[in-house]
Amino acid sequence: MILASSPDDNEVRLYRTIKCNVKACTACDSCANNKGQCVLKDDMQAIYEDIIHSDKLLFITPVYFSGFPSSLKAIIDRCQMFYNYPELKDTLPTKQAYILAIGGSRPYPDQFTGIESSLRYLLRSINCRLEAKLYFTGTDSFNDRFDDDKIGLIRDFALKMFTKGE
Ligand SMILES: Cc1cc2nc3c(=O)[nH]c(=O)nc-3n(C[C@H](O)[C@H](O)[C@H](O)COP(=O)(O)O)c2cc1C
Repeated sequence: MILASSPDDNEVRLYRTIKCNVKACTACDSCANNKGQCVLKDDMQAIYEDIIHSDKLLFITPVYFSGFPSSLKAIIDRCQMFYNYPELKDTLPTKQAYILAIGGSRPYPDQFTGIESSLRYLLRSINCRLEAKLYFTGTDSFNDRFDDDKIGLIRDFALKMFTKGE
């Protein structure tokens, strides 16, 4: 899930990535020769616009095989457009990114390393700084319930996101 907020109208846009029609990047590099125009026409055009105009991005994700689920990874991969068109990046307002990730398995080394490293690489391409992160582990044994301490952590995290930079 990605949540993009716009500085102009305080609008918040929510993308449930599993519901998005975003094709896989084919590395055709057309965007490099075509001023950032991607040849694939799908929901990514709207997502590009929201990434460009947002001031804050929140990534909410489960950990799948120590990485992002494929629906979110497809969106990240299509951001190769920004990497291939650095002139656009230079015009983007500085953004803040937040990530809330849950790993269903018990804690293990590098449970969140893959997603964080992938995300940081993306953020470099869109003039975005990772402002805060919140990771929960072992969520598959929570019996569908986050206890009050964890809900408090989520509340603090959300407050940080909506008050920072205002
Ligand atoms: C395909 C798949 C791969 C998963 N891989 C991992 C993993 O590598 N590490 C981990 O901690 N949890 C893993 N899990 C557990 C998910 O992180 C966990 O079930 C998650 O909380 C599900 O999120 P949801 O409640 O939004 O569906 C995996 C789950 C699925 C379905």
